[in-house]
Amino acid sequence: MEFNIAIVKGDGIGPEVVSSAMEILDLIGEKFNHKFNYREVLAGGSAYDKYGEPLPAETIDVCKNSDAVILGAVGGNQWDDLPRDKRPERAILGLRKELGLFANLRPGMLFKALEDACPLKTEIVGEGFDILVVRELTGGIYFGESGIKETENGPTAYDIEAYSEMEIKRIAKIGFEMAMKRDKHLTSVDKSNVLESSRLWRRVVNEMSGNYPEVELNHMYVDNAAMQVIKNPKQFDVILTSNLFGDILSDEISMITGSIGMLPSASLAASGAGLYEPIHGSAPDIAGKGIANPIATILSVAMMLKFSFNLQEEADTIEQAIDKVLKAGHRTSDIIINNEKAIRTTEMTELIKKEIDRR
Ligand code: IPM
Ligand code: MG
Repeated sequence: MEFNIAIVKGDGIGPEVVSSAMEILDLIGEKFNHKFNYREVLAGGSAYDKYGEPLPAETIDVCKNSDAVILGAVGGNQWDDLPRDKRPERAILGLRKELGLFANLRPGMLFKALEDACPLKTEIVGEGFDILVVRELTGGIYFGESGIKETENGPTAYDIEAYSEMEIKRIAKIGFEMAMKRDKHLTSVDKSNVLESSRLWRRVVNEMSGNYPEVELNHMYVDNAAMQVIKNPKQFDVILTSNLFGDILSDEISMITGSIGMLPSASLAASGAGLYEPIHGSAPDIAGKGIANPIATILSVAMMLKFSFNLQEEADTIEQAIDKVLKAGHRTSDIIINNEKAIRTTEMTELIKKEIDRR
């Protein structure tokens, strides 16, 4: 089969990790007889430097007309003082909105070979955990009305958290469907003891649970969820939550895996291209040094093969190759646990390619 992929390498370590992932993809193409065509476009700080804006129209256009988008990471200190609408983050938010990427899937699991990197005690983690955060991505406070108005207390800034029934329904549907494919347990996280938007959220999720009798549904306030994730992560299967709560909880969950350089993500639309990116940021401190861990981006490519192209075997091949390389003790500097020697981005990529080639 033939697929057209928009490549947004981004800033910092973005270009390094995306280049690795493209090498892996090309090898998968060779082995399984697919053709991946790439169109590279700019977004984030690099786009600002070249065009004076973080998300040029051409980038939106190319992404919209592709089968999927692979994104590295955007941002860096040199762009921190730009006005809000020129900041690199605007590129991500703009792409989410323009492509209608309302469903963000963020797996947080403990990699067997990296168990010792987990900062939680073994009694707590036991046999490990495997959580999927389903985060609403194009609504809520991120995209609600915002502004600053003059009041007698000086300027007062506001950002509105608003959710429509339609928005809640479509993300809840993804949550239930993901739970059906996994351990059939869905935890919906809200703040319905305080927020009206959360009360609607909870009502809609409850109504929908009738369509999924096999899925065990529970609700949790977000403050408690933040605690439970640390206290007993094994209790979670799929977490369904809003844009802002999902932003926070997914970072917390990535931290307790001890390997943020390993975690992929997918952002999906009702139709059209999905976007795949590592959970980690642009890591300006190590950019250009050739030492970044490419695995999160490579696993994002595996998610793309699975979710956008329905190529399960190809995705499994990548995941198994990574597993073997880790089990053999190969580590980039971010995942060193027991004084292993740190290998470089290119070395890690070659090792994974070798494993893929072997099968
Ligand atoms: C994320 C990031 C983004 C978000 C930023 C970069 C706008 O933190 O993808 O989690 O807040 O959604
Ligand atoms: Mg975040």
